[in-house]
Amino acid sequence: MYLRQMETDDLDIMLKMAHAEGWSSDKFEFELYLNINPMGCFSCIIDEKVVGGIMTFTYPNSGWIGNLVVDRKYRLKGFGKALFRRGLQHLSPLPGMFLCASPMAVRLYSEFGFRKVSNINRWKRKGATLHLPKNKGNIEYVLTMDSICWHEDRSRMLDLALKNRFYAVNEGAWLGFGQVNDHWTIGPWEAYDKESALKLLQGSLVESTDQHILVDVPVQNTKAWDILTNMDFKVVGTSVLMCKGLLPEIAFDNIYGLASMGSKG
Ligand SMILES: CC(C)(COP(=O)(O)OP(=O)(O)OC[C@H]1O[C@@H](n2cnc3c(N)ncnc32)[C@H](O)[C@@H]1OP(=O)(O)O)[C@@H](O)C(=O)NCCC(=O)NCCS
Repeated sequence: MYLRQMETDDLDIMLKMAHAEGWSSDKFEFELYLNINPMGCFSCIIDEKVVGGIMTFTYPNSGWIGNLVVDRKYRLKGFGKALFRRGLQHLSPLPGMFLCASPMAVRLYSEFGFRKVSNINRWKRKGATLHLPKNKGNIEYVLTMDSICWHEDRSRMLDLALKNRFYAVNEGAWLGFGQVNDHWTIGPWEAYDKESALKLLQGSLVESTDQHILVDVPVQNTKAWDILTNMDFKVVGTSVLMCKGLLPEIAFDNIYGLASMGSKG
């Protein structure tokens, strides 16, 4: 076994492994990772075949680890740990590191010094889709609110991610959303107040029998809990936001939805 830098040709195999886990991931997201941080994405190779991978994502003051996956046939042989160690090493110059852990991986990350910051609930709304706003909104407004929420400059990621997503804004909130494979995902969804957050979601959601929507929400945000419950969303899973090193003052009260399903905050 050896690890090497991930190549564009590895992404289809990575996606296959991600979909086998039921992850809400698409090629666009994986390409975005690889394009933004090609030196920080690694594949695990056995007999010339890709059997696992990890992707990292960097902001000016923090790094994210995402999409750690090993092919089921090759698990429990130390490959996951080797990939994780490599990703961690890549991010080590940054003051803080984050990840969203699936329950099965929490112990592994704790061993490397990660601690729990928050639970993240995955909410699902069956029988609905999101419609496209006429006016995409002001990107400067979006970036300002995002940096207040995360205490981080995430503009490089958002500039690129939003090219493939729609977003709507109002006086106190913004809501990003897009189609991922056969469903829709919300994120980021950020607001200064509950009313503005609610108005945006109500204005974007459309009933549609054969579609569904997913959004990942920090449990601390009880306002988001109220909105989603009232709009017939149900919790379908939980992951754990974990951090190592410096933890900035993240404004969880203003974060109604993470940027993506678990991989970049
Ligand atoms: C998590 C995952 C990457 C681990 O890969 P792996 O190659 O099996 O991991 P390793 O063999 O290096 O094992 C690393 C440690 O995790 C533990 N571990 C692995 N799978 C586990 C499981 N299902 N439940 C509990 N512990 C587990 C191992 O026991 C090992 O601990 P040890 O060193 O104390 O013995 C792999 O199970 C996977 O791809 N899971 C599905 C995707 C996923 O959940 N990824 C994590 C996203 S946050």
